[in-house]
Amino acid sequence: MHTELKKGVYWVGVVDWDLKAFHGHELSTHRGSTYNSYLIVDKKIVLVDTVWGPFQDRLIENIREIIDPSKIDIVVANHAETDHSGGLPLLMTHCPNATLVVSKRGAESIEGHYHKQWTFQTVKTGDKINVGSNDLIFVEAPMLHWPDSMFTYLTGHNILMPNDGFGQHYATAFRFNDQVNESELYEEALKYYVNILTPFSDRVLKKIEEVLALNLPVDIIAPSHGVIWRKDPLQIVKKYQEWAAQKPEQKVVFLYDSMWHGTLKMAEAIGEGLAEKGVQFKLINMGVSDRNDALVEVFKARTVLVGSPTLNNGPISTMMPVLEDLRGLKFQNKIGAAFGSYGWSGEAVKIIEEHFAKCKIPLIREGIRCKWQPSQKDLEDCRAFGREIADATLKQ
Ligand code: FEO
Repeated sequence: MHTELKKGVYWVGVVDWDLKAFHGHELSTHRGSTYNSYLIVDKKIVLVDTVWGPFQDRLIENIREIIDPSKIDIVVANHAETDHSGGLPLLMTHCPNATLVVSKRGAESIEGHYHKQWTFQTVKTGDKINVGSNDLIFVEAPMLHWPDSMFTYLTGHNILMPNDGFGQHYATAFRFNDQVNESELYEEALKYYVNILTPFSDRVLKKIEEVLALNLPVDIIAPSHGVIWRKDPLQIVKKYQEWAAQKPEQKVVFLYDSMWHGTLKMAEAIGEGLAEKGVQFKLINMGVSDRNDALVEVFKARTVLVGSPTLNNGPISTMMPVLEDLRGLKFQNKIGAAFGSYGWSGEAVKIIEEHFAKCKIPLIREGIRCKWQPSQKDLEDCRAFGREIADATLKQ
């Protein structure tokens, strides 16, 4: 099935309703995803990006609804990751003489993935290829989010195809942003930004400025995942500028787990201290919560509190994946603190504090520990700790 974006420009991608995990199992995709591929029919026939390998037959069927795939002259691979390049091996058997247009790093990555002798044409920012009535203009976008990433712009129709940029893992019945639930759309767009693009936020801001400075009219932003932005397309660009600035709200997120509710009772008492000062907070038990959703809450908040009992001389293992994400995602403008109960050795709080240093999240104060189950005095100390955390959160 295909959808026409503008006369002679078609979405020929695939909706993957079943996808529940992406990047292996690194990223949860509760609402599935799409792999967007765009066909331009002009004097030259161009395909921009393909689909994930398991869906390559569907891509060919969709193209065949419009033209014979052997007529494709140019295949643009904006990004080599296999969710976009996985359809190349089959596609290129249909159009073996097509030119594969890639960034310089894209040529290396595509060759590295497929080891095929395809005809490559490397392009850099500002390069143009005439396709008949209109031109393709390329903008390299290294580390948004791979070294090879590139945007393609189609003149005349004013369509920006930024590959992963401005995407969402969001399977829907319809293809355009004005046809879907707006709050679901933004939930998925933000989750995608937080979990994939946050470490590159400085580059996001610079790239947006660079693209806006080109003064290219933009009627449609057609990413490689999720819905296509045709109603007020620059709304998602403005959102990216806001997200990339990483200005958190004055609130607190707890990431914790608890074996026998000692650490939980501490979290609740700290929460009472926060509430006394009017500070919003959320408790997220990492033993039972989705990591990627939790990270969205961390992204939005000024303060992150990490709580864990001590088990085998360290934090409980359920905390480790999210701690590793906190390091890797390089969140900015956060402050934090640690807490946890223990029975005998009690190293978890110190280890978490060392981890905060690796995450470059400054500590508000020394962490708080309780031996065995918290006493009334311990709980009062936790409330006081919460009030102190509240003051620091509001000082932003
Ligand atoms: Fe970086 Fe959608 O792949």
